Amino acid sequence: MTLNQYIRDVQDFPKPGIVFKDITPLLNNPKAVRECMALLVNNLRERNIDKVVGAESRGFFFATLLAYELGAGFVPVRKPKKLPFETISATYELEYGTDTLEVHTDAIQPGDRVLIHDDVLATGGTAKAVCELVEQLGGVIVQCNFLMELSFLKGREKIGRYEVYAPLVY
Ligand code: PRP
Ligand code: MG
Repeated sequence: MTLNQYIRDVQDFPKPGIVFKDITPLLNNPKAVRECMALLVNNLRERNIDKVVGAESRGFFFATLLAYELGAGFVPVRKPKKLPFETISATYELEYGTDTLEVHTDAIQPGDRVLIHDDVLATGGTAKAVCELVEQLGGVIVQCNFLMELSFLKGREKIGRYEVYAPLVY
């Protein structure tokens, strides 16, 4: 099975000129999800992950499965004003303007070994903000893990000091 066949290219979404990588066909197919999980887990079982951090919203799908598989806690990083308890936030640049992500202050303990997961590494802005949040709470980033990397956007350069892993590269 090649996972590629379950990722649908949608032209001009969300804006003209953008080709959106739609993972809903993959999520809809349990065999593809299993295959995807095997790729994402890769060598992580031996790496003593305490927490898996997922970026809202598309990062949540596989981050929760990864946490379950690895016997780790799941931590949601969310868009502003969604989390009910005490939070810290990180702001990052978009093409036009900025965006902010938040995490609960008690979600990660100093020294926790953390896996960060998101569906796509594009410009790296989201992942960099998530890394900042994890480090502010004293977490140790073991790997930044993505289902796919859009390598032409050079997101890897923004999070270059961490281990970056993505089984699918476009
Ligand atoms: C998309 C994608 C990644 C991020 C990658 O999320 O799911 O999280 O963009 O882009 P970057 O590397 O340039 O930051 P989006 O913000 O569209 O929100 P969603 O996951 O809620 O759909
Ligand atoms: Mg996202």
